[in-house]
Amino acid sequence: ESRLKNLKKTLSVKKIVRIIETHSPISGIIAEKASENINGKINYFDGFWSSSLTDASHKGKPDIEALNISERLENINNIFEVTSRPLIMDIDTGGKVEHLKLNIKSLERLGVSAIIMEDKTGLKKNSLHKNTSNQKQDSIKNFSNKIKSIKSVQLNKEFMVIARIESLILGRGLEDALKRAKNYVKAGADGIMIHSKKETPTEIFNFAKRFRKDFKDIPLVCVPSTYNNVKEKEFEKRGFNIVIYANHLFRAAYPAMVKTAKSILRNERSKEIDSSLATIKEMLELIPGTK
Ligand code: SPV
Ligand code: MG
Repeated sequence: ESRLKNLKKTLSVKKIVRIIETHSPISGIIAEKASENINGKINYFDGFWSSSLTDASHKGKPDIEALNISERLENINNIFEVTSRPLIMDIDTGGKVEHLKLNIKSLERLGVSAIIMEDKTGLKKNSLHKNTSNQKQDSIKNFSNKIKSIKSVQLNKEFMVIARIESLILGRGLEDALKRAKNYVKAGADGIMIHSKKETPTEIFNFAKRFRKDFKDIPLVCVPSTYNNVKEKEFEKRGFNIVIYANHLFRAAYPAMVKTAKSILRNERSKEIDSSLATIKEMLELIPGTK
């Protein structure tokens, strides 16, 4: 329960909350242990993102809501076994509202702090595809009802339902995104995530400026996978509260594993790749209790 409450608490004391994707217990441990001292200021990750993309990829499946909720929750439970920071779950479209209402209780019981639910409908595909013409956005009415339904069943007042707006991803424009934001907040959303796959942040900055005129205190979330040159301070200045690095630990591990597999095949031994790997000593010392 204290883990669940920690996201709201962190939001109340920090100007920008830094979240990173974790798809496994070891990635959770790495995320939790990582820190950098920058001239006396200690940077660390405030919490975790359970990404549909990296959870699915980790299981060798496409990011089309193919994993069921039990698989997603088992993964989160395994991460929770060995970590303590709060987690935001990517719940995709949320599926059928009748099922969603039941699932919310399981999420809260597990200690998930927030869900981010996207306003797409039909077979969900990942938002970062270049061509999104086969992706459909839900109606404002339907999606608002989904938000209302979840808010009516949640048990903890600290549990957050963050509405994710796909208007910019689907080329529907700023006015549509703003209209949706207003309606979703009215329906009870505790926060808004504005998504974009542009390489520059102009469209999300324009959104933030207009959104902040109406809503001073509603947490605003961005996922800078493509516009990755923007520093966190800039997001803070523009009115954002949460920055999610949505896929980075998975993307770091993947090329390292491919490189290692190929090197062993090429050289018919492991000597050549050894200096790029964690040492056996490091492995043995990584998890306390191995000795
Ligand atoms: C995810 O990490 O699964 C997300 C963010 O939903 S994105 O991949 O950018 O759609
Ligand atoms: Mg996703």
